[in-house]
Amino acid sequence: MRLDVVSIFPEYLAPLRLSLIGRAVEKGRIDLGVHDLRDWTHDRHRTVDDTPYGGGAGMVMKPEPWAEALTALLAEPAAAGTDATGAEPAAPAERPVLIVPSPAGTPFTQAAAAELAGREHLVFACGRYEGIDQRVVDWARDRAEVRLYSIGDYVLNGGEVAALVMTEAIARLIPGIIGNPESLTEESHEDGLLEYPVYTKPADWRGHPVPEILLSGNHAAIARWRRDERLRRTAAVRPDLLAGLDPDTLDALDWAVL
Ligand code: ADE
Repeated sequence: MRLDVVSIFPEYLAPLRLSLIGRAVEKGRIDLGVHDLRDWTHDRHRTVDDTPYGGGAGMVMKPEPWAEALTALLAEPAAAGTDATGAEPAAPAERPVLIVPSPAGTPFTQAAAAELAGREHLVFACGRYEGIDQRVVDWARDRAEVRLYSIGDYVLNGGEVAALVMTEAIARLIPGIIGNPESLTEESHEDGLLEYPVYTKPADWRGHPVPEILLSGNHAAIARWRRDERLRRTAAVRPDLLAGLDPDTLDALDWAVL
């Protein structure tokens, strides 16, 4: 995957060089570019913002630097014309996805992360101030699949932290990036339920014992207990998730818990 992030604070994206994504970048599984929007300005002050038409508080990001940045980045073919071995010509590149983090976007979900993990080229446009001139988003639709995503119902100072959140959720789902892919299958949000509680040694810690069933060696009973815990937890803290489940995916034992 090719991953480009544009920001006026490229240092904010330093964590992309660490840990799981950092290793994937080092191994060449993710081709990462972090770009300073000001590199596409041409005035002495490297200006990226201006006052809003119609008045109001705050500043708006000017369209010109964004258009230049996105023209450069969206035109770049993701796979550089070769497959992983560098030998075979690659299939024609698909349309890049331009992701604009915004509190006004659609909610970013695990399903969105999974779908984006299969794409060839993602470009994150991190706005600051009151946001990016709307015409940039409209104009970019000819060049990319444009998506506005919110990571939650609160307001951040800019899109950088939201881009870090989304890239982490996406990158860990790229095949071959997580060492043990089985750890992905029973996670919260994979099937609409939250995950079950987990325990490790010692079996008794400060008078708090591990649930006995987990020491029983009875795999079927443990699996049933874990499913019950997932259902109970989800019903307690996220009834909205339960409401979204397909009732056909619930068996009689599930209904007994609910
Ligand atoms: N930028 C500012 N707030 C945001 C949010 N909640 N989600 C995504 N991008 C944002």
